Amino acid sequence: MSVALIIGAGEAVGRASAEKFAAAGYEVAVASRSQKLDPAKFPFFKFDATDPTQIVSLFEKVHKEVGVPSVVIYNAAAVGKAGQVTPFDFDTAEAFQKGMNVNAISPAVAAREAVKGFLELEAQGKLGSGGGTYLFTGNALNDKPLPGLFTLGVGKNTTAATVEYLARTAYNDKPFSFYYVDERGSNGRPMYEGVNGDAHADVFLQLAQDPKQGPWQYTFSRDNGYSAFPKDFPSKDSP
Ligand SMILES: NC(=O)c1ccc[n+]([C@@H]2O[C@H](COP(=O)([O-])OP(=O)(O)OC[C@H]3O[C@@H](n4cnc5c(N)ncnc54)[C@H](OP(=O)(O)O)[C@@H]3O)[C@@H](O)[C@H]2O)c1
Repeated sequence: MSVALIIGAGEAVGRASAEKFAAAGYEVAVASRSQKLDPAKFPFFKFDATDPTQIVSLFEKVHKEVGVPSVVIYNAAAVGKAGQVTPFDFDTAEAFQKGMNVNAISPAVAAREAVKGFLELEAQGKLGSGGGTYLFTGNALNDKPLPGLFTLGVGKNTTAATVEYLARTAYNDKPFSFYYVDERGSNGRPMYEGVNGDAHADVFLQLAQDPKQGPWQYTFSRDNGYSAFPKDFPSKDSP
């Protein structure tokens, strides 16, 4: 049975994606600091992305207890401290570093461990028809910064670079694909009020089932699917 691992599995994207992939025949493992999904259905692994050194042991445990994932979804994110008087939304280097760990370092290490697993599955002839897929839940901040979102924006930009690097320069001879998945409104407006879990689950499964690399910056809207929006997206007040 194919295995999917969801890192940062909460009520929205995580729950919907876990249900969607399970219905499609995947065994789904989930990882976060607290357990929110039924562990009888979705094996739970306690994990804190502020400490990227936990990634290797997370994958080791998932390999041993569930299997090697052909799909890895990274959905955890960290925002900086609200209400700062300077544009910097952190008080200390340590606080900024923790945010970068969640948004940038852990996603990169997870991508490396994901690829190790894809190679292992391929060598064993066990990679399914969709190949290996790494999916990161992004947002619009790699297209344009927004005030008050320094830590989140710098981190998401870094992971956009990670995903673009892997999608464009590595493994082009293999059925491995890498995506920075970013939901927008149908006019390209970011999802300020929160993302749609079901819409993400649909896009994730569709991308996971296709062994070919599509647009690495996978901007989509629930109504129209993939669209390449202008970088200068509409403001929060736009409809
Ligand atoms: N496209 C857009 O415009 C847009 C808008 C809003 C959000 N987003 C993105 O959507 C994603 C979140 O969506 P969601 O609605 O699914 O959020 P959610 O329901 O809050 O799920 C996120 C999960 O990540 C886990 N998490 C957070 N920090 C973690 C850490 N340090 N280590 C391990 N797990 C951690 C949380 O679980 P624990 O607390 O138990 O660890 C939580 O369950 C984020 O990547 C966010 O940036 C995009």
